[in-house]
Order: sequence, then C-alpha cells, then structure tokens
Amino acid sequence: MLPHFSSRAFLAPMAGVTDPALRLQCKHMGAGLVVTEFTNIHSIIAKEKQLKEDLQTIQEFIEYSDQERPISVQLFGSDLFALEKAAQIVEPYFDIIDYNMGCPAPHITRQMAGGALLQEINLTQQIFSTLVNAVKKPVSLKIRSGVTDANKFLFREIAEIAEDEGIQMITLHPRTVSQGYSGSADWKMIKELKEISGIPIVGNGDILTPEDAKTLIDETNCDYVMIGRGAMGNPFLFEQINDYLKTASYKEYSFNDRLDSFFDYLHLTSNYKIKFSNIKSQAMRFSKGMKYGSKLRSKITFTKNIVELEKIMKNAYVSS
Ligand SMILES: Cc1cc2nc3c(=O)[nH]c(=O)nc-3n(C[C@H](O)[C@H](O)[C@H](O)COP(=O)(O)O)c2cc1C
Repeated sequence: MLPHFSSRAFLAPMAGVTDPALRLQCKHMGAGLVVTEFTNIHSIIAKEKQLKEDLQTIQEFIEYSDQERPISVQLFGSDLFALEKAAQIVEPYFDIIDYNMGCPAPHITRQMAGGALLQEINLTQQIFSTLVNAVKKPVSLKIRSGVTDANKFLFREIAEIAEDEGIQMITLHPRTVSQGYSGSADWKMIKELKEISGIPIVGNGDILTPEDAKTLIDETNCDYVMIGRGAMGNPFLFEQINDYLKTASYKEYSFNDRLDSFFDYLHLTSNYKIKFSNIKSQAMRFSKGMKYGSKLRSKITFTKNIVELEKIMKNAYVSS
C-alpha cells in the first residue's frame, strides 16, 4: 500500500539537484513526497558489498534522513537479476521503490535504461514483474510519453502493463525522450492517462507557479503533481501550492527570503557528504531572478570553499 502523502505536491527526482538537504527543505515547506536522484542498480550492488565490509549500510551511499518520509528511492537499469538484488538492498530503508523510464540522457538510454525502455514492451513487462515480486514495499513508475514523435503514445500501453503487473502509482512527464526539454509538456496526455488508469497518477512537467499546479489538477484530474525545475532554488513553491489549492491565495517570498532559504539549505548540507561543486550550483539556483543575479553567479563560480561562498551570499542581501 502507498504511504499517506501530506500534500498533493511532490518533489521530482533531479540528479545533481535534489540532494538530501534540498529534499528536506522541500519537505519542510510542504512537499508530500520526495524522491532520491536516480541510482544505478549495479552501483547499489557494488557499493553495498563494499560498505558491508566496513559494517556500514547503503544509507552511506544514498543519503537521506527519516524526516524526509515518506521517501521514494529511484532506480534505473534493466538487468533483471541486478534489479531484483538492488531493490532488495534498498527496500528496508525507503517507503516506495520508483523505477525510472524517462531519462533522455544518451549515456543512460544507450545502456537500455531510462526512456529507451518505453519501446521495449516485453522487457518492460519483465522489469515490472521482477520489481513487484522482489519487494513488499510499493513500486511506482516514472515515464515520459514515448521515445519519438512517431510513438508518443507509448505511455498508454506501458501504463496498462504496469498496472497489470502491480505497479501502484505512475508519474507521467508528457514529453518524448527525443524532445528532451524542448516544447511544452502535453498535459492532455496526463488527462488521458488518468482516464484509463485505476491507480494514482502524478502529473509532471512545466509547473512553475501555484496557478500552474491548480490548472494541471483541474484540467487532468490527476491525483498529485510533481515539480522539478520550478522548485530549484525555490522550496517555497510547495507551501504556495498547498495554500493555493486550499485557500486560493498564497504568501509571496522576497529575494532576501530566498537568501535566508539558501542559508537554511547550507546549514543542512553539513549533515551529508554533498560535493562543494553541487552546493555552488544550488547557490546559483537560489539567486535565480535576483537583481544583479548574473554578477552574483559569476562571483559564486570563483568561490573555492564554503566560507567564501557564505561571504558572497551574505553580501547579496538587499537592504530595505
Ligand atoms: C537537472 C535535472 C535532473 C533530473 N534528474 C532526474 C532523475 O534523476 N530521475 C528522473 O526520473 N527524472 C529526472 N529529471 C526529470 C524531472 O524529474 C522532471 O520529470 C522534469 O524536469 C519535468 O518536470 P519539471 O518541468 O517540473 O522540471 C531531471 C530533470 C532535471 C532538470
């Protein structure tokens, strides 16, 4: 059974972005579910072996905290034996096992993983059945609509197979793999998926404001919405969406609030092994849209450590 979600707005998995500190921040701001960055099933198996020798667990590799719960772990890779093993390794730690069938990056699709799988109907069926039988925790799926424009409705068949095999929730990002991030997400496909499915559907793609989230829910009747790029450097969006859905209004946040939020993020990072280069990228995202933001971002690029970064971000506060 799926866990209880405290809100309808979920944080999307984003490799290099949704580290455990950012996820926790989004959770505090009202995200109903957070998902880890996608993880290679073969790396999980290799790491677990190594960690076991040091009497450590996979938590050292996929870092998270209990405060993030419910938390979903996202896997990619299509070797059935490895998939079963990796799912069993992570199962005790996470509330949902999510499977990635949407990643368009060539280094992933070339290994018969991510979005490339959408056109491999037989293998897909085996993957779903392997995963669902491997674990007792609920298994969910994240897909794009198809691989190319010519087969952009593959999601229909994939979703039917997924449901038949016991997948409990599907997130659809309605762009094809070859589209990458160009054009816009075709929300009509989310509506169609909701109509043909008997399991919860999460609508994803191009939600940047609380109004977008409400429009997506109203137009498609999807059960939940998932936000990726709109939440980058902007964890406030979850609170705003939740408030807007309840009261049709929400609190606006200033750039100084965004800077405060960056310092909250920075504070949380000290609990995890997050690379300084990733923290710098987050600082850039938190400065998105700020006055003199591009100047600030070029200064951020040159910082060599946390102390330098803190100094630059402190100087960015606008006096009122
Ligand atoms: C930098 C970045 C990294 C991403 N990494 C993942 C990932 O690890 N797993 C996944 O399923 N999707 C990944 N995505 C896709 C997002 O989860 C989401 O489906 C997509 O960005 C569309 O939603 P949005 O318009 O709200 O950003 C990534 C997207 C971005 C921008």
